[in-house]
Amino acid sequence: MIDIIERAAVERILVDPASRVPEASVAARDSASPLTVFRAEVSRFVNGAEHDARRVRLDALLDGLDPNALAAAAVRHALAGTPAGRIPVTVLAEALGFTEASALPTLVATVASAYPTGETTDPDAADAAVIALFEASGRTDPDERALRVQLLVQAYAATATLVERALALARSQDGAVSTRTLLESVLRDDSPVPVTRRLVPAERGGETLVVLHLDGADCEAAADRPARILAFGAGPRACPAPHHALAIAAAIVDTLRADADRDEETVRHADTR
Ligand code: HEM
Repeated sequence: MIDIIERAAVERILVDPASRVPEASVAARDSASPLTVFRAEVSRFVNGAEHDARRVRLDALLDGLDPNALAAAAVRHALAGTPAGRIPVTVLAEALGFTEASALPTLVATVASAYPTGETTDPDAADAAVIALFEASGRTDPDERALRVQLLVQAYAATATLVERALALARSQDGAVSTRTLLESVLRDDSPVPVTRRLVPAERGGETLVVLHLDGADCEAAADRPARILAFGAGPRACPAPHHALAIAAAIVDTLRADADRDEETVRHADTR
């Protein structure tokens, strides 16, 4: 396996139509585990026309989700004390019509840890979580429910990490820095998704698996152009939901920063009494 770290080189591979993702196919659907079937049904682990078709359906689902409404729901949850890391999945699940949305982040976390490679230390738990999420989607069509669950799984760790890092940066900086600037700094300097993988054509035929770092140095950066940001990927498989992700993340970070400011203000008042 080869690591590619420099951002321009990573971007070239991500936009190259000859690079493919390692596939998650399933030979015998009836005897395969629910996790294996789920990975074979999502957009993330297929190539070519099948990827394009699934991507169109994901885009249609995302078009039906209003980022402002997601942000408003995220504010409500943050004010109600829902832990920040659970809010993105909860608001997406509510908007997509899942049942018992607030109980789903735990199940999504279990699936998300096995999702990138299909490897897990607890296959039974991962399978049970996939089955429960399919049920909660309220859909019976296998492709439809897999793509809906995929949206939750893809959003889970990436959005929670973006929020966590922006809040940590806020604590280490002057309070006047805007939430948008904090989020942009994390996306530029500390990508929440650190790596992805591709198969690229090898010189002597066949394909080589490469690990692409999304947070490496931008050696070709120039003063006359903005820094290359790969946090949402690039090319035809880039994240389809950056607006949704940023709306949710900004709402949570804004609300929790305002809360922290109010707490500080209260402490200051108490001290001066
Ligand atoms: C509302 C939240 C989010 C949703 C619903 C979402 C959804 C998705 C989906 C469905 C894909 C697969 C696209 C495909 O197969 O063509 C994807 C890819 C990706 N997402 Fe997101 N995402 C979210 C948040 C984020 C965040 C916060 C980040 C990082 C800052 C992120 C980074 C990525 C990256 C890097 C990829 C591409 C991976 C690759 O090229 O292999 N996503 N996302």
